[in-house]
Amino acid sequence: MDKIKILGGTASWDLKEKICENLGVKPTNLEVSRFADGEIRIQIKENIRGCDVFIVQSTHPPADNLMELLLLIDAALRASAKRITAVIPYFGYARQDRKDAPRVPISAKLVANLIQCAGANRVLTCDLHSDQIQGFFDIPVDNLYAFSVFREYLRILPADKFTVVSPDVGGTNRARAFAKRLGNLPLALIDKRRPSPNMAEVMNVIGEVEKRNILIVDDLIDTGKTVANGAKILKDKGAGSIWVCATHGLFSANSKDILEDSPIDKVIVTNTIPIPPHKKFKKLEILDISSLFAEAIKRIHEEVSISELFV
Ligand code: R5P
Repeated sequence: MDKIKILGGTASWDLKEKICENLGVKPTNLEVSRFADGEIRIQIKENIRGCDVFIVQSTHPPADNLMELLLLIDAALRASAKRITAVIPYFGYARQDRKDAPRVPISAKLVANLIQCAGANRVLTCDLHSDQIQGFFDIPVDNLYAFSVFREYLRILPADKFTVVSPDVGGTNRARAFAKRLGNLPLALIDKRRPSPNMAEVMNVIGEVEKRNILIVDDLIDTGKTVANGAKILKDKGAGSIWVCATHGLFSANSKDILEDSPIDKVIVTNTIPIPPHKKFKKLEILDISSLFAEAIKRIHEEVSISELFV
């Protein structure tokens, strides 16, 4: 592909390599190093003047991942890239997308401002926590859906015996879309109250789950408590086997033990966030999302519709 350059930060190095393999493009030569005090130093090692540049970097913690993305954008801008697309497989800080208490920041908006101010011309991301985050940017944002990747894997399921469940009211639209695309499966949802940011408390199940196999659909797994507590209440209500599909696997703290000890039979995530060996567990299946990103990058480069990917 003419004049296309794919760069990646350290948070998404492997995913970037896979995207490049899919595109048949060599990753752009780049060095990420550190000053003695830990400051990040970036150097793009080849000419990108006049090129269509794609910078792949997820922005999960630590904040250095976001910083690397900003520095890469700045480096590309100053190297006279023609267009810069920030490819953010997992957009961090997305959960803080509104002022839901006095004196709190709208962190997702701040991150959007930073990316835009750094010089990105477009953003390509996946399963944003909430669709309205697209409006935090004044540049085009393409939000991919990992559903097509999950669908391939879910072909092994006897779909008609499954009910799709949203683990909270906020995820209802996501779960509904999943259920529809899997052939209009029944939908249920868990009405949850969260007393503090890292605690999840399940309250109620709305919909029929007794003697049904369950597919819980969520955007991310952090502590694992949302889906584990959800699975417990679904079992109490007589559910059969329980599978979870979540696009982004953050797997913080002791989430591995929480999920292993839960009644969940299978946890399926994608590789938008790299999952190191110590976070992996028996029930976990990691699906490769690189071909979806490669196809989207190709379409952006060739100015072809992306929405057609999801019909
Ligand atoms: C909540 O709104 C999100 O969609 C996830 O359900 C939640 O952030 C998952 O967090 P945890 O795994 O810590 O329960």
